[in-house]
Amino acid sequence: MTIVVGVTGGIAAYKAVSVIRSFVLAGHDVHVIATDAALRFVGAPTFEAISRNPLNTDLYEGVSEVRHVGIGKRADLVVIAPATANTIAKIANGIADDLLTNTVLATAAPVLIAPAMHTEMWQNAATQANVRTLRERGITIVGPGTGQLTGADSGPGRMEEPDAIVHAATTLATRRTVRREREASGTASARTPRHDLSGHRIVISAGGTREPLDPVRFLGNRSSGKQGVALAVAARDRGADVVLVAAHLDVPAPDGVEIRSVSTALELQRAVTAAATDADIVVMAAAVADFRPATTNDSKIKKEKVGDSLRLELVANPDILAELASGKQSDQIVVGFAAETERDPHELIELGRRKLKRKGCDFLVINNVGWRTGFSTDDNEVVVLDGHGDIVMEAAGAKASVADRILDVITSA
Ligand code: CTP
Repeated sequence: MTIVVGVTGGIAAYKAVSVIRSFVLAGHDVHVIATDAALRFVGAPTFEAISRNPLNTDLYEGVSEVRHVGIGKRADLVVIAPATANTIAKIANGIADDLLTNTVLATAAPVLIAPAMHTEMWQNAATQANVRTLRERGITIVGPGTGQLTGADSGPGRMEEPDAIVHAATTLATRRTVRREREASGTASARTPRHDLSGHRIVISAGGTREPLDPVRFLGNRSSGKQGVALAVAARDRGADVVLVAAHLDVPAPDGVEIRSVSTALELQRAVTAAATDADIVVMAAAVADFRPATTNDSKIKKEKVGDSLRLELVANPDILAELASGKQSDQIVVGFAAETERDPHELIELGRRKLKRKGCDFLVINNVGWRTGFSTDDNEVVVLDGHGDIVMEAAGAKASVADRILDVITSA
């Protein structure tokens, strides 16, 4: 595959060298376009030696070959790492004043951008609006991560690690190849039973989070993780690349899926958010604690110290599903679950519709839970709402078959 790697002016440009090297070692033909600012951080000989191709910098070189469109047209994939706030702003506004921005305008290939900048610049309303615009146009944004920045400060803005960028880029390219092959064979919309998710990456959270009070006690819930695991197995069997974010499962984690074990809601938030950057589908089947203790004791809370009553102060956890839904890529599908104890069927759906509105997800799977239903049982009964609040599916039976029915709804979206 021909990959164009755009490098813009940030200290993280040195990490672009690892990205380029990984692509080359995987057998790709890599062409680097460096902006003038990038060359202040890393020299041209490094890019040429590592990419094994001449470096492209100047818009006015090779004019007779119409290089400003030629490079973009030949590309199967364009990766910009690091992408500064300035370059992101230019691309969002269709500005083409250097070879890299011309290439992005001219290409029909998927584009992946790994932003890198100081936290204040990343959080600035202008940058956030530009990133939203790019996502809406189908550009994949990977990161930024949170951590130590160039100076003494730390926060969101750090370029995602090279391995994560390479993985996201490879997934993006595979997805496109699969789509093209399906189009070529005329099966783009026809569902091939059992393999209709191949080339797709799906992130599923399952189980129940635990919020520690002290080293021996926690606030938790009765979720067994069975429905989430059944979804992971069904998605795997239908060819998907599955990441299962597992919070205290009562059942064994399945083979053939990538497991990321977590305990608390904040850990689950971090794991799901990171995995979701390059996912086509995210399913939040986990039961997430809405609150956590304001403080966690380092040693066991002793009865002789607290006496006959104990007051706990709880603080709210983030609503992970709502965050995922509001920050999603335009072609990503985000699915939530609603665990409700409401017995009246009409009121149950209304509760679901209100939850759907609050969360903003594409589908909501409503299930009844209670002392004897929903959680640790092998069967489930669900109603699925689409983003408008319309009922699109009702299913009852073994969690494995309910999982398949839920995936049917997602794949037909
Ligand atoms: N969820 C989440 N983050 C939270 C709480 C819930 O992402 N802090 C997700 C769950 O994984 C599920 C959906 O939101 O997909 C609904 O969870 P549920 O417990 O039914 O609803 P809550 O938002 O917690 O509202 P309530 O407890 O009032 O019903």
